Amino acid sequence: MAFPEQRLRRLRRTPALRRLVAETRLTVDDLVAPLFVREGISDPQGIASLPGVVQHTRESLRREVVELAALGVPAVMLFGIPAHKDAEGSGAWDPQGIVQLALQDLRAEVGDAVVLIADLCVDEYTNHGHCGIVTDGGEVDNDASLRLYERVAVAQAEAGADITAPSGMMDGQVRAIRGALDGAGHEQTAILAYAAKYASALYGPFRDAVNVSIADGGDRQGYQQDPRNHREAQAEIRADIAEGADLIMVKPALAYLDVIAAARAITDRPVAAYHVSGEYSMIKAAAERGWIDGDAVALEHLTAIKRAGADIILTYLAREVAEGLRGG
Ligand code: PBG
Repeated sequence: MAFPEQRLRRLRRTPALRRLVAETRLTVDDLVAPLFVREGISDPQGIASLPGVVQHTRESLRREVVELAALGVPAVMLFGIPAHKDAEGSGAWDPQGIVQLALQDLRAEVGDAVVLIADLCVDEYTNHGHCGIVTDGGEVDNDASLRLYERVAVAQAEAGADITAPSGMMDGQVRAIRGALDGAGHEQTAILAYAAKYASALYGPFRDAVNVSIADGGDRQGYQQDPRNHREAQAEIRADIAEGADLIMVKPALAYLDVIAAARAITDRPVAAYHVSGEYSMIKAAAERGWIDGDAVALEHLTAIKRAGADIILTYLAREVAEGLRGG
């Protein structure tokens, strides 16, 4: 006979008891839907490695965001796919660039009902696929890249972004962007810093979604973090907060739950986690084969990310989870 204090199963007996003592609650308010908008297409395009996700036209994006708003999803994160790429990624800050146009469309369509977040990077817009300026020696030049990010931040704020989200992992990017925004009168535009962003193989499907391949078989290990490092992530988070980040992000999510927990412990700022493309695709692929219950695994993943300490989850599952949570 177990000692009384060991009878932990009493509170697991009925669904109502379990609901009463649940420590973590996933709600629609936690979710941010990442969305892709592509210049120069007349119909949405499917993405083979991200089933259920599409490259939107401006019009289909507008409809999608209206529907997400109706489901109660509080925020979206926009990524653009330009018709033309160049060495500097000028489409990222062109006032007529696809994300700037989409931000204006959405602001006009939904007002303040949905938080508009714009990913701030240039890799979707550069012909070499790197997140900044590449020198003749093949390096990504940190400070030259910051000058590009400043322009992108201001263009996004001018187009109506509530939050700009620098994802390029250049040193000093939050400080540079904060300065540029304030200098242009955009003190109210917030910064969601991809603070601890790892050089992960889980971004593969995303690169299909945004038509990015890195030149000469390159990778991002010279600027994104090494998955072997935990303390370094804390240094990144502290640096971004000191530079003025309003919210910080850990990315990917499931392989980095320890980093999410550390982030929660070292800051009172909201902590976001990005359940990235590969994490989504693994669920979809296994579910398609009947090897796992995809809906159940999806909820388990997102709940674990919250349990680890995230306040906000960026996920391609946002729409289906919002529908499920409201019993739709
Ligand atoms: C960079 C960026 C990437 C992702 C978000 N922002 C790709 C990268 O760093 O190579 C990945 C997101 C995902 O995999 O879902 N613009």
